[in-house]
Amino acid sequence: MKGIIFNLLEDFITENFGEEKYEQIIAKCNLTTTEPHVGPGTYEDKDLMEIVARATEELKISIPDALKAFGKFAFSKLAEKHPNFVKPYQHPKPFLMTVESVIHIEVKKLYEHAYTPTFIYTDTSPDTLTITYSSKRKLYDLMEGLIDGVGEFFKSPIQQTHKIYQKNGAELCDFELTFTADK
Ligand code: HEM
Repeated sequence: MKGIIFNLLEDFITENFGEEKYEQIIAKCNLTTTEPHVGPGTYEDKDLMEIVARATEELKISIPDALKAFGKFAFSKLAEKHPNFVKPYQHPKPFLMTVESVIHIEVKKLYEHAYTPTFIYTDTSPDTLTITYSSKRKLYDLMEGLIDGVGEFFKSPIQQTHKIYQKNGAELCDFELTFTADK
């Protein structure tokens, strides 16, 4: 996972619980990389999950809840850092439909060795959208939080449910979204 995501996780923990708590969490982690994470660097996914796991123990929250809250936080920071990706849109639906074919393509140009999930969109009706997510990382709770973050960013709440299933030996997850605000 790219250093920018580790940096966002650090910001998330320090902004919510303080720097001292972050240091305590890191001190308990068994990490592959001990030097500070830098934005353009690429680090083991398991190090990110180790920080999340130790943070959840320390803060007495569940891993799914932590990943959801982090996803929501991360989207607002990513949107702030990359305003051009969000600026052309007023509504979450057309924006979300650009993540696979525009945003994550640009992300792979900007951040060497970035690995992003694959999305397949099914435009089920004007107010609904299904995003079929697949990734070796299976970060369903993070995805849920990112979607909540998109709804909050556009001030247009998104109701969502997801279901995980197997197809041709691969694990997929359908995120079924309903947009409740007017376009
Ligand atoms: C401003 C918009 C966005 C930017 C700049 C951005 C950028 C990134 C970056 C840098 C990564 C890490 C890649 C790596 O470490 O290898 C990532 C991962 C990810 N992104 Fe985005 N992203 C954006 C919007 C979104 C949105 C709206 C969603 C969901 C609807 C999303 C879903 C994900 C997920 C789930 C991952 C985790 C990796 C995985 O599941 O395999 N992203 N993104």
